Amino acid sequence: MFKLAALASLLALVPYVSAQSQLYGQCGGMGWTGPTTCVSGSSCVVSNPYYSQCLPGAAAPPSSSSSSSVSHSSSSSSASGTATSSAPGTTTTPTAGNPFANCNVYLSPYYANEINAAVAQISDATTAAKAAKVASIPTFIWLDSVSKIPSLDTYMADAESMGGCQLVQIVIYDLPNRDCHAKASNGEFTIANNGVANYENYIDQIVAIIKKYPTVKVVAVIEPDSLANLVTNLSDPNCANAQTAYLTCVNYALKQLSSVNVISYMDAGHAGWLGWASNLGPAAQLFAQVYKNAGSPPQVRGLATDVSNYNALTTNSPDPITQGDACYDEMLYIQALAPLLQQQGFPASFIVDQSRSGVQNIRTAWGDWCNVKGAGFGPRPSTNTGSSLIDSIVWVKPGGECDGTSNSSSARYDSSCSQSDALQPAPEAGTWFQTYFVDLVTNANPPL
Ligand code: BGC
Repeated sequence: MFKLAALASLLALVPYVSAQSQLYGQCGGMGWTGPTTCVSGSSCVVSNPYYSQCLPGAAAPPSSSSSSSVSHSSSSSSASGTATSSAPGTTTTPTAGNPFANCNVYLSPYYANEINAAVAQISDATTAAKAAKVASIPTFIWLDSVSKIPSLDTYMADAESMGGCQLVQIVIYDLPNRDCHAKASNGEFTIANNGVANYENYIDQIVAIIKKYPTVKVVAVIEPDSLANLVTNLSDPNCANAQTAYLTCVNYALKQLSSVNVISYMDAGHAGWLGWASNLGPAAQLFAQVYKNAGSPPQVRGLATDVSNYNALTTNSPDPITQGDACYDEMLYIQALAPLLQQQGFPASFIVDQSRSGVQNIRTAWGDWCNVKGAGFGPRPSTNTGSSLIDSIVWVKPGGECDGTSNSSSARYDSSCSQSDALQPAPEAGTWFQTYFVDLVTNANPPL
């Protein structure tokens, strides 16, 4: 009865709704047949080719506030920082198809080598013993250049030899004109120099290896920051110029990886980036469209959030840098985004990076992402996530690998890496940052 009454009142609203879009409603974009004007007090702003949205006041730039900057590395630290939440205590029944359920997650030998070398440099015995434990926590293997691909063959063979269900975690990270809104992680391919074809070749090489090991499960995070930049940073010409190539390449990656049964999670920034009210709709629209353009394969499982960032999964006390955002932690962000995705035909599940989320309240701004001082290793990878929307807490960022150099003469120098809340001096992105690693160990929460 109630449902019928609700339906009737909704129908009564239809003529009004179809005349003008509400605040934060859609008002345009590829394939959109609804209203293209907005209620009084708001105006229609192009967010991306798939989505225009009614935003308060006069036309505004597509990105939100400070928090719309790049995300893929950040941390927080400070002795005075309040403790972050750890994994919620409630037990959740794994959702059907959760690739992490009942499977052993393979330990990255690359990271284990880094940890072993780091431990050898630590003179304090207690700290060294804690640091050594990190080698047994699974992190993702970043295929951030073509030169890393052959190592995947070795790891897959190794995983296969272990028998039973083994899950190898990889990050696909080599787009042409990579990291379009920042500099620290600019990649090896450029669009101007055959970047799309080079990228397709990079994907083909990965797919050929994975195909050889059909008994080994593979989970992939797809291109940190890329689609999020297309949601909020198209006003940056570097991102606008990369848009077509990003969409082409991500589409290729999703289709090819699905063909060998890789379970993919597209990177979806974090709460402080796409979690703002004005960004949620455009984000959902873009992710759903990319999913549908790839043929809605069941292997495209959903989205990864907080990759290389520092946000809590849940917290009772919002960090002041969240400036009143209703989605002040990853759980709230996921709960807000998931229904919007479902409405558009993308029944997304999530994974959440918590590798460096152990300490909160350490950043001066939510958009800060580079080697944030005072960060600590965070909640451990677990399928006990507190939400049926979340397949697993994961460690995507191998903590101790740098987010970006603080050397201002480097080609990849990004001023974010010399801000007051960034630990300095810092080496190049992806290389080992020993003092940062020791801080992560010391500040780990839960402790190591
Ligand atoms: C770097 C990559 C690295 C990844 C994980 C990124 O910031 O650009 O080279 O593999 O972090 O540490």
